[in-house]
Amino acid sequence: MGGFVSDLVVVNIGSLVTNDPGRAGLLGVVEGAAVVILDSSIAWVGQEADLPGEYVDLRSLDAGGAAVIPGFVDPHTHLVFAGDRSDEFTRRLRGESYEETLAAGGGILSTVQATRAASEDDLYEAAAERAWRMLMSGTTTVEVKSGYGLDVETEAKMLRVANRLDAVLPIDVVPTFLGAHVVPAEYRDDRAAYVDLVVGPMLDACAPFARFCDVFCDDAAFTVDETRRILEAAKQHGLGVRVHADQLARVGAASLAADLNVASADHLDHATDEDLAAMHRAGTAAVLLPAVSLSMRLPYPDGRRIWDSGVTVALATDCNPGTAYVESMPFVVALASLNMGLTPEEALWAATSGAARSLGLADRGHLVPGSLGDLVVLDAPSYLHIPYRPDRDLIAAVVKRGAVL
Ligand code: NIG
Ligand code: FE
Repeated sequence: MGGFVSDLVVVNIGSLVTNDPGRAGLLGVVEGAAVVILDSSIAWVGQEADLPGEYVDLRSLDAGGAAVIPGFVDPHTHLVFAGDRSDEFTRRLRGESYEETLAAGGGILSTVQATRAASEDDLYEAAAERAWRMLMSGTTTVEVKSGYGLDVETEAKMLRVANRLDAVLPIDVVPTFLGAHVVPAEYRDDRAAYVDLVVGPMLDACAPFARFCDVFCDDAAFTVDETRRILEAAKQHGLGVRVHADQLARVGAASLAADLNVASADHLDHATDEDLAAMHRAGTAAVLLPAVSLSMRLPYPDGRRIWDSGVTVALATDCNPGTAYVESMPFVVALASLNMGLTPEEALWAATSGAARSLGLADRGHLVPGSLGDLVVLDAPSYLHIPYRPDRDLIAAVVKRGAVL
């Protein structure tokens, strides 16, 4: 985002989640709190009774005794797309598998057709609507992948849209190049030539618009060897790397992720304890996507086991037209608490602090002096209401860099 700067004091906070490791408990909760934001960053956090006099005259936001949490960070989305796959969704409800749809030229490939055909402005408008709804659900930073172009021109077009969202809307966008989402139909008989295109002209055209490169490393997508080649080329272009790992089958993506020290391995439905131990040693975060399990009616990854392995756990929506058309991080926190064996505390931490870490962003995900002034006032007395009342976003106000939206 650009251009929004504000000073603000948030007062009358019943219960404040700081995620400050210097405070007690995973979430570092402060009761009866106030937060001061100066020049878009946090200047002071503490009990309101201790608020220094110099801040009392600032423009204020009264939280009305409700809970306040850090802004959500959504570290895995496919927010830019055209078209609609509700048909495919209903076929899946009747028993068709994701792999069958893709093999028949549907699935990701049908979104590719629609996205290639869409104008850059139309793509932007559709994505901006989704991004606004995300903001209104409390997401203040979102990662956005390309991957529905699969040709040089459309991949670059998608990334320009992601950059425009960042420039225009009061949300920070982290753009990721995902030219290796699947092999497009026109390269079906020569996948090596497609990988050549990705590591050559496509990376050249897309790297200037991206911060990360991602690869869908799985049975229906790219092999471990292809993934290694693409991610190594991306590193040469100065990009950070992340990977869609072992979602449909265990192909060795999680251990490759650890090998390459990638920032995050995402999905991990089939990762073993050994894979997790390797990721832990490498400092690779695990991005878990419970809305995919819900929408695909698949078993949920074992969040408890993954958390207990010691890796940094992050939660994301995976917002995409195929496997999870979900925009709300509070909903994802509820799913993770109810179905993945994470406590509400762990799930909220993973959707804020863990998510920021998985994107390599040290300045957010927590409310401590120096971090960004991104926070959410809940319409509830405690963050526990997020999983307790799972059909509501419970958002009373969203503050982005000190600006009340
Ligand atoms: O994260 N796994 C690969 N990519 C997406 C699905 C994209 C789609 O089906 O359009 C995912 O689930
Ligand atoms: Fe994804």
